[in-house]
Formats: sequence, C-alpha cells, structure tokens
Amino acid sequence: MTKLRLSFRCDECGAAAPQWAGRCSGCGAWNTLTEQRAGPAPGAPAQRGAVRLRDAPLGPHAAWPTGLAELDRVLAGGVSPGSATVLGGEPGIGKSTLALQAAASLAHAGGVALYATGEEPAPQVRRRAERFGPVPEGLWLIESASLEEIEQAAHALNPQLLVIDSVQTVVDGQVGSPAGSVLQVRSAAARLAAGARARGGAVLLIGHVTKDGQLAGPRALEHVVDTVLSFEGDRRHSLRLLRALKHRFGPTGEVGVLEMGERGLCAVADPSRLLLADRRPGVPGSAVGAVVDGRRPLLVELQALVAPAPAPRRSAHGLDAGRLGLLVALLERRAGLSLAQAEVFALAVGGVRVAEPAADLALAVALASAALGEPVPERLVVCGELGLGGEVRSVPDLGRRLHEAARLGFTAALAPASAPAPPPGLELLAVGHLSDALDAVGLRPGPRAARRAA
Ligand code: TYD
Ligand code: MG
Repeated sequence: MTKLRLSFRCDECGAAAPQWAGRCSGCGAWNTLTEQRAGPAPGAPAQRGAVRLRDAPLGPHAAWPTGLAELDRVLAGGVSPGSATVLGGEPGIGKSTLALQAAASLAHAGGVALYATGEEPAPQVRRRAERFGPVPEGLWLIESASLEEIEQAAHALNPQLLVIDSVQTVVDGQVGSPAGSVLQVRSAAARLAAGARARGGAVLLIGHVTKDGQLAGPRALEHVVDTVLSFEGDRRHSLRLLRALKHRFGPTGEVGVLEMGERGLCAVADPSRLLLADRRPGVPGSAVGAVVDGRRPLLVELQALVAPAPAPRRSAHGLDAGRLGLLVALLERRAGLSLAQAEVFALAVGGVRVAEPAADLALAVALASAALGEPVPERLVVCGELGLGGEVRSVPDLGRRLHEAARLGFTAALAPASAPAPPPGLELLAVGHLSDALDAVGLRPGPRAARRAA
C-alpha cells in the first residue's frame, strides 16, 4: 500500500503548509489550515502503470465556441469540454450578463446550456435573456441553490455549458457550513468541476470579488478550476475588460474589450477611440498614455488634480497608489516641482486599470500639468517608464504604441530616446530625462509652480 502524505492548505489564501499550525504563515489568518490528502510521496510507485508520455491520451481538447467573440478570444477558442472556469468580478460589473449571453449564444448555435441561479429569481433571468433577443430553445434554467439539485439537472440534461450564478450561493448538503463560507464555496466548486469532467461538459462558476480584487472567500478556488477569468471595469462607464488570469488551455495574454449596452454586452472594435471619446482639450492635468493590455495597445487618458492642502494626501483610481507616490517624489526631487503641500488625485479614465510602468511618464506629465495649471498639446501621446534618477526608460512594444497613436490622429509623441522611427504624421519628441520631457511640452516648474501648488 502506498503511504499517504499529509499536507495542509489555508482556506483563506491557499498557501500550503507541511504541518498544522493555528495561524497561516501566508496570510496570518487563524484556524484556516485544513488537511489535504495528497498523492503518494515523491518517488513512491504510482498506483497505476506508467505510460510513455507520447502514448498518453490527449483527451478531447477542441474548445466549443460560445459565439460571444470576445469571450472566445480570451479563452483561445471557447469553453473546453470537461473544464471548470471561474468568472470573477465586482458586484454589478456584468458577470451574470456575460454568462447568460454566452449560454444563450451557445444555445442559438444549436448547443444546450443550463443556467443555475441561486441569486436572482427566474423571471429576472428570463427578462435579462430577452434583452439579447429571442430566447433559444436549448437554454435551460434551474432556480436552486442546492448543489444536489443542480447536479441532478445537469446530469439529466448533459449541457455543454453549465453556469452557476453564483458559486457563493450554492449549498453542498454534505458540508455543514453556511452558504458562502470558505468550506462551502471550495467544496461546491470542486464537486461541480468534478461533475463537469465526468460529463465532459464545461462549467462556468460566477464568483464575486471584493473591492481589493480578491475572490470573496477562498482564493484556493483558483486551484480547483482550469481557468480564472476576471471581468473588470467601472460600473459608471460602459467599457469592460475581460482577461484570463489562469488558463490551462491557452495563453493568458488576450484581453477582451466589451461595452455594456441596452441589449447586453458587445465587442468594442476600437477601444482607444471609445476611451478618448469624452476627452476635453485644453484642460490642465490631462495626458494621454499608450498602454499595452494583453496584446493590443490602448490609448488611455490619465488625469490629475492638485489642490492645496495642509497635509499631503494622494489618491489613485485605476492606478497604482505606490507608483503615484513615487512619481510625486520624482517630480519633486528630479524636476523641481513640489507637491509636498498638496492633495493629489490621479485617475485612469474609463474604468481601465493601468498598472504598466510604461505609463509613468504620462502620469508625471499629467501631474505636472495639473500642478502648473498648463494644459499639454491635445494631440500629444506620452510613453516611457521613469527610473529613480528621473531617467526616461524604454518600454516594450513602443512601435505598436506609436502606431496606435498615429492611427487615432495624434501628431506628437513624447517618448524615450530609444524610440523607433515614428509612423508618418507623428513627430517624435525623444527625451532622456523627466525634466527634459516637461521642458519639451512647455511645462516649466519655477516659482509660479511652487506658488500654485502651495
Ligand atoms: P449584472 O450582469 O447583473 O452584474 P453582476 O452579475 O456582475 O452583478 O449586470 C450589471 C449591470 O448591467 C446592471 O446594472 C444592469 C446592466 N445591464 C445593462 O446595462 N444592459 C443589459 O443588457 C443588461 C442585461 C444589464
Ligand atoms: Mg449577478
């Protein structure tokens, strides 16, 4: 008999531990370590015979397109038979809409989809489906929070796609903890994933995430599924970004760009144009950066507001707060622009999250423009990472960023000295240092700047 190796895993953060402890060393939570039954110890003989890898079964791997183009693109073709996917996002962002639309679209193409709702009553789900058009014959609904009932219905119907809305509402009768608890969610997800594998269908689990972007409850859910999708955006804007954070059946670089409209979600052909649609020229504190999200370049407006305040405060929306603090310090130490006595707000417009260092220079220009009360040229795009010495560093894919800017009618680019020859119509302002960059666009910190910021 092979000896079972014991190990423990934190229900909260998913960290593994070799032995039980009262407190998780990963996240510091108390009493969250639970025992895992792992396979045989390393080196122990496998229970089943070994096969040459080249003779190992490939299994069914051709994905089923859902017909929702952006979702299929992010999933590298569609949902995979026998797979489990979790779709995470903040409440109200459009997860139910995306999942129902995918299910309806798959059913329109002749497939069978089952939508399990434990969150909204059936009439509400039906009315939502009717917004997309006629409801197809192959789209089924079960209004239940019971895992047993849902599994029975799935077994009887054998759908290609089973949607669980949401995994936090499902109750596994065999687990004695309340719905939404870490144990329930993880156990339900594991059983639903196993069910999907056994049936050869796909399961899509909707999961709410908290404001800080964590899957509510167990992050350990990520270990249970094959694919983790994140649906992001700002509820007040129509733009939504769909990305794969983990994907066993394809690359994770693709980003789907969708727009929430009156009749559900539709693909956005030209996201940069949509992101810049509301931009008002001539306003200080605005600069356009070019970020590469997944594989496509996106032009994003970065805005800053600087107001006098007795105590300095910084707040970042859609931007990294630490990076904002760094840029404020760089402006002070490397470009002579003091924001020490100021409240600083910075924002990426349109609900996109900009995490790339390649947007450093654009944000620094927006901050300087806000502090000086001077707008930057309307058709200027800004690319570049900033080093701690104030040096402007090169960024990946700069050529593609510049082409995107030229396509949208931009006429000048503030970019690192290493920039390739720009496309026709775009004048390159190559700079090596932050202070040269500010100079090149007419933002000259001086006594006036200090006065305004104070
Ligand atoms: P929903 O899918 O319910 O979000 P989640 O499941 O992530 O909580 O949808 C959220 C919002 O989308 C809701 O405020 C209504 C809006 N919406 C539209 O604007 N158009 C539509 O066609 C649909 C179905 C919803
Ligand atoms: Mg919902």
